[in-house]
Amino acid sequence: MRLWHPAFPAPGQTPPRANPPSHGDTVLKYARIIGTGSALPEKVLTNADLEKIVDTSDEWIRTRTGITERHIAADGETTGDLAFLAAQRALEAAGVKASEIDLIVLGTTTPDIIFPSTACLVQHRLGANGCAAFDVNAACSGFVYALGVANAFMRSGQSKKALVIGAETLTRMVDWTERETCVLFGDGAGAVVLEASDEPGIFTTRMRADGGFKHLLFNPVGVSAGFTDEPNHGVRINMLGREVFKVAVKTLDSLVGETLEDAGMKEEEIDWLIPHQANLRIIEATAKRLNMSMDRVIVTVDKHANTSSGSVPLALDYAVRSGKVQRGQNLLLEAFGGGFTWASALLRY
Ligand code: UT7
Repeated sequence: MRLWHPAFPAPGQTPPRANPPSHGDTVLKYARIIGTGSALPEKVLTNADLEKIVDTSDEWIRTRTGITERHIAADGETTGDLAFLAAQRALEAAGVKASEIDLIVLGTTTPDIIFPSTACLVQHRLGANGCAAFDVNAACSGFVYALGVANAFMRSGQSKKALVIGAETLTRMVDWTERETCVLFGDGAGAVVLEASDEPGIFTTRMRADGGFKHLLFNPVGVSAGFTDEPNHGVRINMLGREVFKVAVKTLDSLVGETLEDAGMKEEEIDWLIPHQANLRIIEATAKRLNMSMDRVIVTVDKHANTSSGSVPLALDYAVRSGKVQRGQNLLLEAFGGGFTWASALLRY
């Protein structure tokens, strides 16, 4: 019997590292994004491919969701693999060594294994052993929640350099015979490196939830509730799409208003909206609420579909690397997902 998975550090191998900053250290005012990265599986599944699997059409998927294709993790390719690649790319873009990171917060609802957390697995692969590392499960709001948590650590002086990751292999939960859900999801990961700074970065974050909506979007099985004899042990996404759609539009409408108010900013001061990529029609409704034309909105749902926690950081990295988002611009990030959870971050890039 093998006791130690190769991804785990063997006992006693954790290298010594400096203590993380304590409350006694200088507290800098902002958490700033100093690098972004992302990763997508190689395999692409188009709408035409899905037409061969379920009773759907490219026309239906495009007009109802805006999706044309999505990336699907290969057998054996995990959330942690994608998270690791995205994190490596973000560290490289930031010019920061893994050993300098004092906090890793990873948003996911599809961890590699039950424990250790995917954050711990990624930490070891990066060589950031010793820093705080944990996962946040807030479904599709996972990355924006993780960003809010890391921001709070920085604002209280408990972190100076953090890695925030959103990563998912949601297609592992997809029932490929159910056309209502299987056309919607894809796999991917994104990451940012945050640095404590006196220069403006994150102005405000909001994290909200209402567990009363569990019945509209959930995965019914788990370690404690138990698994079933159904295919994939009963692991599958249950969603009442039309109902989720209505609540998402309404909730995001109030969320962006609250966020602007909190930061003391006006709609016209936002340079880019970087929304959760679930449905183009939801994105358009939020843009309309903000009086923003779609050329100021980052859209990747067409190519990535809904990657849950991966969606916002994937869109952000695309926006940065394509040269759309420039230093000094104000970005509004928002997400909505199972729970329900919803979250936002308003920041200067
Ligand atoms: O990220 C987490 C949050 N999740 C979301 O934000 C998802 C929110 N919901 C949505 O994006 C949309 O509700 C969906 C894309 C899931 C569905 O779009 P819709 O416009 O709300 O369609 P619908 O559920 O009202 O279904 C309309 C019709 C139905 O047929 P009838 O009853 O009108 O005859 C469905 O059976 O479309 C049918 N349908 C499909 N037809 C072809 C449902 N799925 C498909 C499909 N292909 N894949």
